[in-house]
Amino acid sequence: MKHFLYFLIPLVLLAACGQQERISKSVFDEVNKAMEAKKLSDSQITQEAMSWGDSITTEAQQQLMANLHKAVNEQGAAGALDFCSVNAAPIIKELSDKYGVSIRRTSFRARNQDNLPTEDEFPILDAYLYNAENGIENEPNIQSIEGGDILLYTKAIVISTEFCLACHGEPTNDIETGVLSKIDSLYPDDSARNFKVGDLRGMWSLKIPKKAVVLRF
Ligand code: HEC
Repeated sequence: MKHFLYFLIPLVLLAACGQQERISKSVFDEVNKAMEAKKLSDSQITQEAMSWGDSITTEAQQQLMANLHKAVNEQGAAGALDFCSVNAAPIIKELSDKYGVSIRRTSFRARNQDNLPTEDEFPILDAYLYNAENGIENEPNIQSIEGGDILLYTKAIVISTEFCLACHGEPTNDIETGVLSKIDSLYPDDSARNFKVGDLRGMWSLKIPKKAVVLRF
C-alpha cells in the first residue's frame, strides 16, 4: 500500500501542474482575443495598469495611515504596534479581495519576515534602493511576469515623516523603550529599525492580472 501511495503522489502533482499550464494557456488566448476585439495595444494595457496600481496603492496607503494615526492617538505607539501587527495584513487583504489584485509591501529590512522580497521583486527593489542611495527619483514600475498573464506593479515606500520613526527609527533616540520591547518580542528577527526620514523603506508590490486590466476598457 505504501509503495502505491509513493507512486501516486508524483502523478497527482504532475496532473496538477499540467492543468495549471492549460489554464494559463487558455487565459492567454482569452486575453489576446479580448485585446484584439477591443483593439488594445500592450502600451495601453501597461498605462491602464499603471494608473490602476497608482490608485490602489494610494487607497491602501491612506487606509493604513488613517488606521495607524487613530490607533496611535487612542492607544499610544505601544498599543498601535499591536494594532499594526494584527491589522496591517487584513486591511491589505481586504483591498486585494475587493480588486482581485494581490497586494503586498516588501522590504529588504523587513519587520514581518513574510514581507521579504520574492525572486520577482528582488531586482526591482534593488534598483529602487540604488536610485534612493544615488539621489535618483524612483518612479512606479510595471513588469510582465508569469508568462505575460500578470503585470507586476511596484512603487517605492519612503519614510515620509517623523511619525514613522516612533516604530522604525533609532532604538536609542526615536523608539520608546516600551515600544521597543514589544517589537523585540513580536518580531525577534526585526530589521525595520534605524531608518531616517527620506530613506527608502520598501515598496508596494501588486500582481495585476492582465485579464482584469483588459476588462477595465
Ligand atoms: C505604531 C508603530 C508603527 C508606525 C508608527 C509605523 N509602522 Fe510600519 N510597521 C509596524 C509594524 C508592527 C509592522 C509589521 C506589520 C506586520 O506584521 O504585518 C510594520 C511594517 C511596515 C512595512 C512592511 C514591511 C515590513 O517591514 O514588514 C512597511 C513598508 C512600513 N511598516 C512602513 C511604514 C511607514 C512608511 C511608516 C510611516 C508613515 C510606518 N511604517 C509607521 C509598525 C509601525
